Amino acid sequence: MTTLLIKGGTVVGPSGTFAADVLVDGERIAALMLPGTAPETGGRVFDAAGKYVIPGGVDAHTHMELPFGGTAASDTFATGTAAAAWGGTTTIIDFAVQRTGESVQDGLAAWHAKAEGECHVDYAFHQILGGVDEASLKAMDSLVADEGITSFKLFMAYPGVFYSDDGQILRAMQKARENGAMIMMHAENGPAIDVLVAQALARGETDPIHHGLTRPAALETEATSRAIYLAEVARDTPLYIVHLSASGALEKVAEARDAGRNVFAETCPQYLYLTLEDQLGAPGFEGAKWVCSTPLRSKHEPHARDLWQGLRTNDLAVVSTDHCPFCFKDQKELGLGDFSRIPNGIGSVEHRVDLLYQGVVDGKLSLERWVETIATTPARMFGLYPRKGVIAPGSDADIVVYDPDGRTRISAETHHMNMDHSAWEGFEIAGKVDTVISRGTVLLENGTFHGRRGHGRYVRRGLSQYLV
Ligand code: URP
Ligand code: ZN
Ligand code: ZN
Ligand code: ZN
Repeated sequence: MTTLLIKGGTVVGPSGTFAADVLVDGERIAALMLPGTAPETGGRVFDAAGKYVIPGGVDAHTHMELPFGGTAASDTFATGTAAAAWGGTTTIIDFAVQRTGESVQDGLAAWHAKAEGECHVDYAFHQILGGVDEASLKAMDSLVADEGITSFKLFMAYPGVFYSDDGQILRAMQKARENGAMIMMHAENGPAIDVLVAQALARGETDPIHHGLTRPAALETEATSRAIYLAEVARDTPLYIVHLSASGALEKVAEARDAGRNVFAETCPQYLYLTLEDQLGAPGFEGAKWVCSTPLRSKHEPHARDLWQGLRTNDLAVVSTDHCPFCFKDQKELGLGDFSRIPNGIGSVEHRVDLLYQGVVDGKLSLERWVETIATTPARMFGLYPRKGVIAPGSDADIVVYDPDGRTRISAETHHMNMDHSAWEGFEIAGKVDTVISRGTVLLENGTFHGRRGHGRYVRRGLSQYLV
């Protein structure tokens, strides 16, 4: 029995692009068949002629409802996952938080309580360790063994909030070497940044652009290099650098990978398109919309060009959003007169698939590489493959029909994220999400949303399947 047939489309995956009809039985993909050969079974038929049929996007870096910067990220699991679905993302991996002084298990339980029954698409968790000690090291084992959480984020930034020192980082990496987990690193030298921030504020430099100027690329490069060395000392435990934005940091990753090391990195759409001068440096307080860490980089340096290049060479394996939205009113405004109080984060969960398709149109990525960076590799990297990230028999029927002839115009007036502005306001890009299916359930068709809260399920992840 098939329940859905997606007919006449062009299936795209990392191993190639080909014409096929896709049959769905219940929640799973049943078969891929030569065009026109699928049996009529009375199920629903979608005409995908002239369109791409791709696996639903996997966004491996989101922060729904994250308490941060004296407030909380403005998307709930309900609103943020609806926005994800509108944009062709059918799985998110959010970061459960252990706050300093709290147990890892309590932090994780609180995250499950926020997400349970709320999500429109499937979700999994990474765990942020807000403190590395005997108890949290032990908890790492039980999260890997029992909770389907196989990756842990540590911070070289944000002293006093999420920061771990080098000794703590090394211990967590040694633990990961034992239990097979992936260490994800926010690689910026936080103590040095704090000195630069205090000096800037003392000089009266309070505008949003100083957020970027006090987090120079050199301090991302230095921290990235240090993390890579620490991972080497921990017997080459796998390391994944999050939200990489600087050419120098990319060079360090590339050098490690050329040496055959298990070092991986993601970048985010904001670093591919937006800049320190044009967005963060917008007049007055406007630039607060683009305060995020790592920060947007200078357009006078080759960061964005190098990041696109890194996506082609696989030195950057994944594109995630680091979705961490804050409204301008009352949230970003907490930093009026003091850039260091602007909550850090940009909201993009709805736009990642489209923004990266623009890279295909611009000749910067192949079609196959587009699908690989937004869906297949994040699924493999974080133990969701082949359930997610691929159009193949037996995989979850998470399918996006993508219209290359459509156009997407981004605006806060029309987006579905719970934000009063958009970091992408006025962006007009090629391509459009046409139909979105999650585990065989149609969430979006003909511009109408059929998703419902609670459809999305928690997914236990296996170990990373990704080696150099
Ligand atoms: O600015 C950002 N990236 N906010 C979210 C927290 C983080 O460091 O990923
Ligand atoms: Zn981070
Ligand atoms: Zn983040
Ligand atoms: Zn709001």
